[in-house]
Amino acid sequence: MAKKPMACTDHYADVVKVLTSRGLLLGAYDAAGKANLMTIGWGALGEVWGKPVWIVLVRPSRYTYKCIEAHGCFTVNVPSAALAEACDVCGSQSGRTVDKFAACRLTAERAATVEAPVVVECPIVYECKVVHANDVVPERLAPEIVDGAYAGGDFHRVYWGEILDARAEPQAAKLL
Ligand SMILES: Cc1cc2nc3c(=O)[nH]c(=O)nc-3n(C[C@H](O)[C@H](O)[C@H](O)COP(=O)(O)O)c2cc1C
Repeated sequence: MAKKPMACTDHYADVVKVLTSRGLLLGAYDAAGKANLMTIGWGALGEVWGKPVWIVLVRPSRYTYKCIEAHGCFTVNVPSAALAEACDVCGSQSGRTVDKFAACRLTAERAATVEAPVVVECPIVYECKVVHANDVVPERLAPEIVDGAYAGGDFHRVYWGEILDARAEPQAAKLL
């Protein structure tokens, strides 16, 4: 169904619920222009520097890291309950070896405002331009978090994505 422009804060509680349960789908193109998806479970939607932002955390080992570095932008796609299996696939397979759009039978469409793919089947999508990136600094992080989340190193890069466009299907709330 066609999506319509929405305020970045619309559906906020539902979107956070999906983020912390099945996960959201982060979309980006690799350097060659192949669309990739990665499930994210950590992130924040809010306002910084007077701009609406999605803050996402991506480990350097992810193919997605290379994709975001290549184009400086990404999309955040909110999957419906029917797409739970796609979240599992996109959270366990790498775009280095798998075309996840094809594997999950999802449709990639170029975003309207940035060089990144949106997932046509997702009822809510955000288009984001990276305006800041910083690496998690182990020495400045609580030791219990370092021990719990970074036993293998691979400290996240934190991407601050200004939301340039946010759209939702009229029935989005019922589909999440
Ligand atoms: C529910 C869930 C949430 C996840 N959240 C994140 C995250 O926030 N950041 C991250 O770097 N990896 C996260 N992952 C792991 C990546 O999705 C996974 O390693 C994926 O295969 C990477 O794909 P890529 O190599 O194509 O980028 C998560 C996985 C799952 C299942």
